[in-house]
Formats: sequence, C-alpha cells, structure tokens
Amino acid sequence: MSPRKLVIAIDGPAASGKSTTARLVAEALGYVHIDTGAMYRAVTLKVLRAGIRPSDGERIERLLATTHVALRREGKATRVVLDGEDVNAEIRSPEVTRAVSMVSRHKIVREAMVREQRRMGSEGGIVLEGRDIGTVVFPDADLKFFMIAGIEARARRRREELEARGISPDMDGLIEEIRERDSQDSTREESPLRKAEDAIEVDTSDLTIEEQVRVVVEKVRGVAEGTGA
Ligand code: CDP
Repeated sequence: MSPRKLVIAIDGPAASGKSTTARLVAEALGYVHIDTGAMYRAVTLKVLRAGIRPSDGERIERLLATTHVALRREGKATRVVLDGEDVNAEIRSPEVTRAVSMVSRHKIVREAMVREQRRMGSEGGIVLEGRDIGTVVFPDADLKFFMIAGIEARARRRREELEARGISPDMDGLIEEIRERDSQDSTREESPLRKAEDAIEVDTSDLTIEEQVRVVVEKVRGVAEGTGA
C-alpha cells in the first residue's frame, strides 16, 4: 500500500527556518510546497505599487477584487505570480517586508488567501508554511510543526539571505525589524501567530538545515506509513 498523502503545517515567527525546511521537506517527500507568506507579500507589493496605505482596508478590499496571486511550479522551485507577472524577487524587498504585517492584518486579505490555500491543499501531498496554517487554514492537518529560534540566529540567517542578494543590512536594524514584525503578527486580532496545541515545537537555533529537515521528514514518514512515529 502506498503511503497516504498528508497535509503538513509548518508555522513560526519570522526567519525561524520555515521556508527552507518546508521546501526541502516537500522535495524529499515529493509533495507540493506552499509558501503562504509569499502570497501575503505579493498582495503587499500590489498595495505599495498602487500607492495605497497598508492600513487602508477599504481601498485594499477594492484592489483585491482585481488581484490574482498564484504559485507556479518551475522544476523544483515555486515562483510567485501576481496578475500574471513573476514577482519572486520584488516580494523580498525591504519595503515589502516592512509593510507586509500591516497588510496581512485585514480580514478581507486573510479570507482571500486562506480560500486559495485550502483549495491548493485539498488533495493532500502538501507542505504549507506560514503563521496560521495549523490553527486556521488546516486545523485538521495530519502533522503540525511550530519552528522557533533565538533572535540572534534568526537575524543572522536573514542577513545571510539578504547578503546573497547584494544587500548589506546592519544586525541591530534586522533584530529590530524581526521583533517588530513578530509583535504585529502575534498581537493582531485576525489569526494571530500562535502555536497550535497539537503542534510539535522544533527549536532550530542550533540545528543545521539538514538536521531540521530530518526531524520533520522522519515524523512525516512515520505518520504516512501508519506507525504514528
Ligand atoms: O520573512 P519571513 O519568511 O519569516 O516571513 P514570511 O513567511 O514571508 O511572511 C511575511 C509576513 O506575511 C508575516 O510577517 C505575516 O505578517 C504574514 N503572513 C501571515 O499573516 N500569515 C501567513 N500564513 C503567512 C504570512
């Protein structure tokens, strides 16, 4: 009997290692990877391009009516497509990063994104990462992980990521930005960032990428094969 195709939820705060882990776990299992943060970032990019303030829910609601965010697979990578345009690089800009938590607070934005995420995950065989996957998007997910890491480790990873793209941020600024975004994401009214009661917590501060991927893949294989590891 071939193993069941599961829904895997990976949540956690900014730069906790979710994206890399989710991508590699999906690859190892032959599952689809959905980076839900990239979807919120794409909406934010459109809001900023339209000159709309991230706090202006009414104008954002009107904008959403003509907005289409999709994730397209290209080989092993997933590209983010906004109204037909590949915006993979633009959504990682510091401007989008600064505004994304404010845009993501709006109920209307969350409803539109969650609808699409549930549609994409309806057949299983999927790893979704974000802030509210195990609590709101797929509360019945087969396996839930909550990734955490110390602030220094997270800032260091974010700096390496930015440096690889030719940007040299200072550590204090990064720590401040990560703290600010975590605070906004955890205290908002709609779907705040929090660990689901049945999520497995993984502290990635001192783990290599290979180690954190192994932790997740082993648990998933155990459940998929029915051993309940
Ligand atoms: O920078 P990092 O990769 O940690 O964040 P991200 O996963 O790209 O998410 C960017 C932002 O989108 C978060 O700070 C949240 O404000 C928002 N988000 C959300 O509200 N719900 C999700 N399921 C995913 C992201």
